[in-house]
Amino acid sequence: MSSDITASAVWRKLHDHHASIGARHLREFFAEDPARGDELTVQVADLRIDYSKHRVTRETLDLLVELAHTAGVEQRRDAMFAGEHINTSEDRAVGHVWLRRPAGQSLTVDGQDVETDVHEVLRRMGEFTDQVRSGQWRGATGERIATVVNIGIGGSDLGPAMVTLALRHYADAGISARFVSNVDPADLVSKLHGLDPATTLFIVASKTFSTLETLTNATAARRWLVAALGEEAVAKHFVAVSTHAQRVADFGIDTANMFGFWDWVGGRYSVDSAIGLSVMAVIGKERFAEFLDGMHRVDEHFASAPLSENGPALLGLLGVWYSNFFGAQSRAVLPYSNDLACFPAYLQQLTMESNGKSVRADGTPVTTGTGEIFWGEPGTNGQHAFYQLLHQGTQLVPADFIGFARPTDDLPTIDGTGSMHDILMSNLFAQTKVLAFGKTAEEIAAEGTDPKIVPHKVMPGNRPTTAILAPQLTPSVLGQLIALYEHIVFTEGAIWGIDSFDQWGVELGKAQALALEPLLTSAEAPAPQGDSSTDSLIGWYRSNRH
Ligand code: F6P
Repeated sequence: MSSDITASAVWRKLHDHHASIGARHLREFFAEDPARGDELTVQVADLRIDYSKHRVTRETLDLLVELAHTAGVEQRRDAMFAGEHINTSEDRAVGHVWLRRPAGQSLTVDGQDVETDVHEVLRRMGEFTDQVRSGQWRGATGERIATVVNIGIGGSDLGPAMVTLALRHYADAGISARFVSNVDPADLVSKLHGLDPATTLFIVASKTFSTLETLTNATAARRWLVAALGEEAVAKHFVAVSTHAQRVADFGIDTANMFGFWDWVGGRYSVDSAIGLSVMAVIGKERFAEFLDGMHRVDEHFASAPLSENGPALLGLLGVWYSNFFGAQSRAVLPYSNDLACFPAYLQQLTMESNGKSVRADGTPVTTGTGEIFWGEPGTNGQHAFYQLLHQGTQLVPADFIGFARPTDDLPTIDGTGSMHDILMSNLFAQTKVLAFGKTAEEIAAEGTDPKIVPHKVMPGNRPTTAILAPQLTPSVLGQLIALYEHIVFTEGAIWGIDSFDQWGVELGKAQALALEPLLTSAEAPAPQGDSSTDSLIGWYRSNRH
């Protein structure tokens, strides 16, 4: 039986503590403690993480650290790094952190020489992408590859899609990438639009190589290529990334052109594995190595910093604080960087597929809420859409603001004297300030506002935010950001005692879709499905389909 953290003495202490400080305002905390801004800031590799605008006192932080000790976060973390099977429901090790260790640190897990295998795949990826980037690898008609199309879904799509957009400035070999994931044919059709089969390389990325969406899209892409260039062109235009060589061969891709990984890499933790092949094709193996190094720097911090100074652990604990003691349901992630437009979507899989669980690792029901809902959009766009609710709504939505000192692009302001990037960043600083401190009725009335309007203009403040700042969005910094959130998820999952590395909840829907699909098209009347709504929906679809 997993120990129930909510039955612990420290949980009760946190409960009482929340009762005494939960309603206090950030204005008071800052007034009482002028050094708070600097002191509640932690440096994690290149990331400056300011958590001072959280509804915590020093005592709260001590209690949260005690909570982590009680839940055994450090032991669990050490067990992950050491290769113990912490993914208990699948009886697997959890080894994404090994994918970014420098060569020369030997590691054997379950009889596998992990270090040798990881670096051998990286070497092969580097060799292959060098050939593609230099033009040595040519398509069937002898032309250079101009576009790689990654076909995959979930972790085999979101990571590389997010990273290639974020690092678009590092695309230095004339190779662009497109990403096809949805089984909606509109996805493939729109992504193939304008592409020349002769200069297109497909990367079929699937850990299991059994995912319906991916195999369906890959088959359709294969038909598109064969129609233009013939069957023999497949070898030069299709490569695979998978853990399953036999299924790759059965699909018709030469396993010499397959890049492997292992069952201890979860899909949502796999952008640093061969799943990153499309990224490497676009930015090159040296930049990819910097990306991995950034992740490794944060891994080292997470593995060694005391919990009270451990950035990912502290942010995970703050997530627990708001979820379980304030009843917050979601966390907004707001990058002040258009290049990070796909980062919130990436984090949705990472966080919600990991911690959306209602039983603990031993199968007993959880006794508290788990799994924050992650969502967000780049600033400043979000400001003109949903920030109204963040500022004046009735729900508490803690928010992470991410920004950079130096822009990847910059342009002058309207009068030509300033920088657009400075406008962007002043918005980030303004939003965190206003969310924290708000504006009182007295302040608004003192401006001569019509008393009837005053309540509408009151800005309550006391809305917690984290500011995560870095010098620039480089491959290393992006790797750092990803690893930061991976370990936040880890910390929360360890507190809740759940298995953050399985995802059984997605299976039933897949099986049900397979069972229903023939009913949509069969000549006979569909068999009743046991509920009147599904029967009626299928009936409507069948009568409107043609
Ligand atoms: O949605 C479930 C899931 O298994 C994800 O965890 C995974 O990233 C995705 O499907 C794709 O799986 P695969 O890489 O095996 O095609």
